[in-house]
Amino acid sequence: MRVPTYSILYFGLAASSQFDPRSYATEDVIVRDVAVIGGGSSGTYGAVNLQRLGKSVVLVEKEAYLGGHVNSYTDPATRTSLDYGVQTFWNITTTHDYFEYLDIPVSVWTVDNLTNVYADFTRGDALNISVGEDYTVYVEQLNKYPYIEWSWDLPNPVPSDLLLPFSEFVEKYSQQDLAYSVYFNAQGTTNFLNQLTVNVFKYVDGSFLDALSGGDVVTSDHNNWGIFAKALALLGSDVLLSSTVVSAQRSTNGTGVSLVVQTPTGNKLIQASQLLISIPPLLENMQPFNLSTEESDLFSQWDYGAYYTMLINNTGLPAGYRFINAVADFTTDFNIPTLPAPYQVTESRVTGLFYVWYASPYVQTQAEVEAAVSEVVQRLQVTANGNSTTTHAPTFVEFRSHTPFKLVVSADVIEDGFYSKLEALQGQQNTWYTGAAFLSHSSGILWNFTASLLPEIISAIESS
Ligand SMILES: Cc1cc2nc3c(=O)[nH]c(=O)nc-3n(C[C@H](O)[C@H](O)[C@H](O)COP(=O)(O)OP(=O)(O)OC[C@H]3O[C@@H](n4cnc5c(N)ncnc54)[C@H](O)[C@@H]3O)c2cc1C
Ligand SMILES: *[C@@H]1O[C@H](CO)[C@@H](O)[C@H](O)[C@H]1NC(C)=O
Ligand SMILES: *[C@@H]1O[C@H](CO)[C@@H](O)[C@H](O)[C@H]1NC(C)=O
Ligand SMILES: *[C@@H]1O[C@H](CO)[C@@H](O)[C@H](O)[C@H]1NC(C)=O
Ligand SMILES: *[C@@H]1O[C@H](CO)[C@@H](O)[C@H](O)[C@H]1NC(C)=O
Ligand SMILES: *[C@@H]1O[C@H](CO)[C@@H](O)[C@H](O)[C@H]1NC(C)=O
Ligand SMILES: *[C@@H]1O[C@H](CO)[C@@H](O)[C@H](O)[C@H]1NC(C)=O
Ligand SMILES: *[C@@H]1O[C@H](CO)[C@@H](O)[C@H](O)[C@H]1NC(C)=O
Ligand SMILES: *[C@@H]1O[C@H](CO)[C@@H](O)[C@H](O)[C@H]1NC(C)=O
Repeated sequence: MRVPTYSILYFGLAASSQFDPRSYATEDVIVRDVAVIGGGSSGTYGAVNLQRLGKSVVLVEKEAYLGGHVNSYTDPATRTSLDYGVQTFWNITTTHDYFEYLDIPVSVWTVDNLTNVYADFTRGDALNISVGEDYTVYVEQLNKYPYIEWSWDLPNPVPSDLLLPFSEFVEKYSQQDLAYSVYFNAQGTTNFLNQLTVNVFKYVDGSFLDALSGGDVVTSDHNNWGIFAKALALLGSDVLLSSTVVSAQRSTNGTGVSLVVQTPTGNKLIQASQLLISIPPLLENMQPFNLSTEESDLFSQWDYGAYYTMLINNTGLPAGYRFINAVADFTTDFNIPTLPAPYQVTESRVTGLFYVWYASPYVQTQAEVEAAVSEVVQRLQVTANGNSTTTHAPTFVEFRSHTPFKLVVSADVIEDGFYSKLEALQGQQNTWYTGAAFLSHSSGILWNFTASLLPEIISAIESS
């Protein structure tokens, strides 16, 4: 077969010239110590603190705003702010220092005083179920594995209880009464009873249980986006919003990374000594980074759920309530409902505005989720209003996708050393990783973990 030589040459040239600064206008070449990818909880923390430590950074975020899972809303009529995404932060030293540095006033988190109503959301019926809250045995078991709180450094072999599906853990330790509470607190986890116990321990961990005894803080103005507004002000033009990496060259010889980034004002070239990645490390998200075989193998193993948050108005529901989804069956389901469905429909700090958290084992469109929520709210209207025969659809004020959420791998893959292989990627090809998939879904823990990477990143900059 005759090969059209000119086109091979052409593509060869294009591939190398996209990383050649001479192909760009001077102002489109960004030379920094570190390029941070993803401006949610951990990426923003990393960028702000590298800058604080005197390193130059650029932060690349695909959305038009920083904050990731944080969703804040300010009611135009009352100027009241509320958070319908990430709500609270574990008040450990790392969190305390970060908020001091950003000058974010905080208050102790306390549980709201809404009345909880359990209802079968597929029917609307209120259920008289009793949800156990005695965590004594759960905590006893959790405390056997202190490394889970701060790392994925599992012993080899992995303790067998950690790899039990949670349903079997529940049976083994007679935690039937507690199962519903654990499910509810591990928000956004689909197929809950099949989740591995180690993952349940990650979601409902010491940081979570500490919150119940006053260990968590909230932003005093209930506007968590304020954290990211302060971060954005500090980072200024070092943040590229609505931007994604389209192509990358990561050297294996310590000469740094080159990234082609698509931005609203055209393509730019980033040349950085080190790369800090905080985005969900799924293959489709990571494909532009020219993954090594090892990275591709690891990043193809994840399973995850879909999670959506929204604010609704004109709900036809009484003020002062949290409606919680459950099923009547206790014997086999421990009252835990089947998903996709809303977890809860809860009044926010603004009377009449409710927030809904909705989980699904598969990705759904906004229209599908809103239609399902609308049906549930109308069923709840019937029950809440004395079997009223007229119902109306709520209006949707805000809608955000948190998908992909809670990346996990199977028991076999964990036993095969998945997490130590993941950890071994740190520093390879000038690339560092942080974010929930690498550690935990607690912001405080992620900040602590990210903080512990910074000295290593800085020493890699200095030795390059
Ligand atoms: C509804 C909800 C409530 C929660 N409540 C709490 C809570 O109260 N307290 C708590 O500690 N934790 C809470 N969490 C857990 C949450 O997972 C963590 O707190 C934390 O946000 C995870 O941080 P992260 O940096 O891994 O991810 P994120 O904060 O999601 O940041 C990832 C960022 O990367 C960006 N991104 C994705 N792909 C790309 C790409 N290809 N290129 C560029 N950018 C990209 C995203 O837009 C996002 O900004 C909650 C989560 C949800 C969904
Ligand atoms: C948070 O923790 C710090 C110590 O790390 C403490 O000084 C502060 O009072 C705590 N804040 C709240 C609101 O509990
Ligand atoms: C609890 O309810 C009272 C009214 O009964 C209200 O004034 C107060 O603000 C509420 N507290 C919280 C934390 O919502
Ligand atoms: C709810 O159940 C409890 C026992 O679990 C019972 O004491 C109570 O009377 C029930 N309430 C209603 C309204 O049925
Ligand atoms: C991508 O990685 C491979 C090795 O894994 C390397 O041969 C190739 O040159 C890299 N491409 C770029 C654009 O860096
Ligand atoms: C290091 O690798 C880059 C590309 O990955 C290459 O352009 C450069 O020539 C290499 N430098 C040395 C010293 O080998
Ligand atoms: C909610 O609905 C009420 C009544 O229709 C309206 O007055 C209010 O402005 C709405 N609020 C929002 C945030 O849409
Ligand atoms: C609503 O209907 C159910 C049965 O359909 C009945 O048990 C319940 O008492 C009714 N509630 C009211 C307030 O009428
Ligand atoms: C993270 O938390 C651990 C445990 O509390 C602590 O020892 C460590 O100093 C913290 N790391 C950072 C960087 O703050």
